[in-house]
Amino acid sequence: MIDFGNFYKLIAQKRPTNDLSSWLEILPTQLANWKKQNLDSRFNHWVNSIAHLPEINQPIEVDLTNGVTVKTETPISVGAQQRIEKLLKNLIPWRKGPFDLHGVVIDSEWRSDLKWQRLLPYIDDLYGKTVLDVGCNSGYHLWRMVGAGARLAVGIDPMALFLCQFEMVRKLLGGDQRAHLLPLGIEALPKLNAFDVVFSMGVLYHRRSPLDHLYQLKDQLVSGGQLVLETLVIEGDLHQALLPQDRYAQMRNVYFIPSVPTMISWLERCGFKKR
Ligand SMILES: C[S@@+](CC[C@H](N)C(=O)[O-])C[C@H]1O[C@@H](n2cnc3c(N)ncnc32)[C@H](O)[C@@H]1O
Repeated sequence: MIDFGNFYKLIAQKRPTNDLSSWLEILPTQLANWKKQNLDSRFNHWVNSIAHLPEINQPIEVDLTNGVTVKTETPISVGAQQRIEKLLKNLIPWRKGPFDLHGVVIDSEWRSDLKWQRLLPYIDDLYGKTVLDVGCNSGYHLWRMVGAGARLAVGIDPMALFLCQFEMVRKLLGGDQRAHLLPLGIEALPKLNAFDVVFSMGVLYHRRSPLDHLYQLKDQLVSGGQLVLETLVIEGDLHQALLPQDRYAQMRNVYFIPSVPTMISWLERCGFKKR
């Protein structure tokens, strides 16, 4: 069972800033509907895989600063490692990682750690911050945000598989409640204006209306908050953008790829300011 009760409890407490309590007016209904309509026949199999992870009955050491790593002082048994590996394999494909979970390394398709290192110099100090990662996939970056000091890292991604991957990693990390993944698309979020930093990485070019996406991101930020936008660009001048006819870089559902000046003009049009 994946339930969102801990997240509801966490956001029910009203806060002077970063107040997410108003979300509770619609979130439980949205997630209940998602559960009813989630038609992926493999969902129960994935949830069972999480439930069958071995219990680790010794203190764990978690490192979210240099990667996403968990281990125990005395390594767990080979049998337990094999069981973890088998259960993790039930949730393939693991697109975003890598993770090192009790010596079982998920060598994901993409090196999300390299993206994080590349972006880190441009990201506000996350210490004590409330952050949102839109299109968070397995949640790899959510854990790195926690490692960088975030008080609460919320991820949204509509795909059931990614929710299960996230919950599997969370369980192996000892049930850490500083990060949460909700199976929602950005368009389902009300205007929360509650996040200090909003991340949209690798998502803009998948949205049919990039400007609507930018407005939706802005609606989640506190006044003076930071948007971290990572997206594909083309070389070109102001007003140039590519709309590929078919697949782009082997990806389906790719819409607008702007030049850097065009991207900046879209951001300005939506009210973002360069610091
Ligand atoms: C290219 S991946 C990027 C993943 C990650 N942010 C990264 O940078 O590695 C795009 C992600 O956006 C998610 N996505 C697709 N539509 C979305 C929507 N409407 N709202 C939020 N996320 C969405 C996909 O499921 C996928 O995980």
